[in-house]
Amino acid sequence: MSKIALVTGANQGLGYAMVARLCQELPAGSIVYLAARDPVRGEAAVARLREQGLQPSLARLDVTEDASVEALAEMVARCHGGIDIVLSNAAARIVKDLPQAAQVRTFINTNNHGTYRMIRAFGPLLRDGGRFLVVASAFGSLRQLDPRLHHRFDPATRSLEDIERVMDEYVELVERGEAEAHHWPAWINIPSKIAQVASMKVVARQRQDEATQRGLVIAALCPGLVDTDASRPWFDDMSSAQSPADAAKNVLWICTQPADSPAPYGELVQHRRIIPWS
Ligand SMILES: NC(=O)c1ccc[n+]([C@@H]2O[C@H](COP(=O)([O-])OP(=O)(O)OC[C@H]3O[C@@H](n4cnc5c(N)ncnc54)[C@H](OP(=O)(O)O)[C@@H]3O)[C@@H](O)[C@H]2O)c1
Repeated sequence: MSKIALVTGANQGLGYAMVARLCQELPAGSIVYLAARDPVRGEAAVARLREQGLQPSLARLDVTEDASVEALAEMVARCHGGIDIVLSNAAARIVKDLPQAAQVRTFINTNNHGTYRMIRAFGPLLRDGGRFLVVASAFGSLRQLDPRLHHRFDPATRSLEDIERVMDEYVELVERGEAEAHHWPAWINIPSKIAQVASMKVVARQRQDEATQRGLVIAALCPGLVDTDASRPWFDDMSSAQSPADAAKNVLWICTQPADSPAPYGELVQHRRIIPWS
């Protein structure tokens, strides 16, 4: 049966490769939305894929804007009545030549509040057998965090809004130069990825019974090291990095296996294996 799929932050990098893979793998008649915040970059990406004989559809989406996320969700609901696959992949980069304190607000707004906006807008649209997948990282395991902070991300007791508030507090601490004194890691990617995984786990807990009945899969993915413009500046040796196409193939198995196959519900998954949360 044909599917409706959406990949955020898909005009380049892993997102672009996931769109290509979904266009190749999903049944005939499926629609794959390549979502991009910049229409020019989005159109260029769609054109590149069309040259390869693939047929993605362009969607404009800036995950930092409530109205943009809500408008796209309304369009999907109106045109399709629901969605089968959501890959919440969009991410801001950390650049080397600016202090993290100058980047943290946009970074958390994109990667964390953006994930929250996607969960709120697209979670209710999931069809039976649907997949809501957050592209996170192996850094999203609680093991990366000082134990004194673990309770703040407890998926059994926290709400999505609790985690949103924790991340707002974290932004303030980083901007004031006080994060490390409060036991947070120096690198802003770690709390951000942990919060993404925690939010996914909260939703998975909240929807557990419904997910069992309806065959929903809610999970977070770590692609491993992927050779993209985001990762390249940080590593002298990228020889072990996967190409975006190989990484896309690796992470998308959850989307393309039969709906009744066992899936890692509520887990962080890398190379088809569960990364322990705590
Ligand atoms: N690369 C790795 O080794 C690696 C490893 C582990 C996890 N990951 C995760 O994989 C995901 C993709 O990473 P990547 O390496 O492909 O990154 P990337 O090349 O920087 O791509 C990120 C995408 O997100 C888009 N984006 C940025 N801000 C946005 C916004 N406000 N609204 C909508 N889209 C926005 C970018 O659009 P523009 O082109 O307009 O900026 C771009 O298309 C991220 O979640 C990353 O954390 C990557």
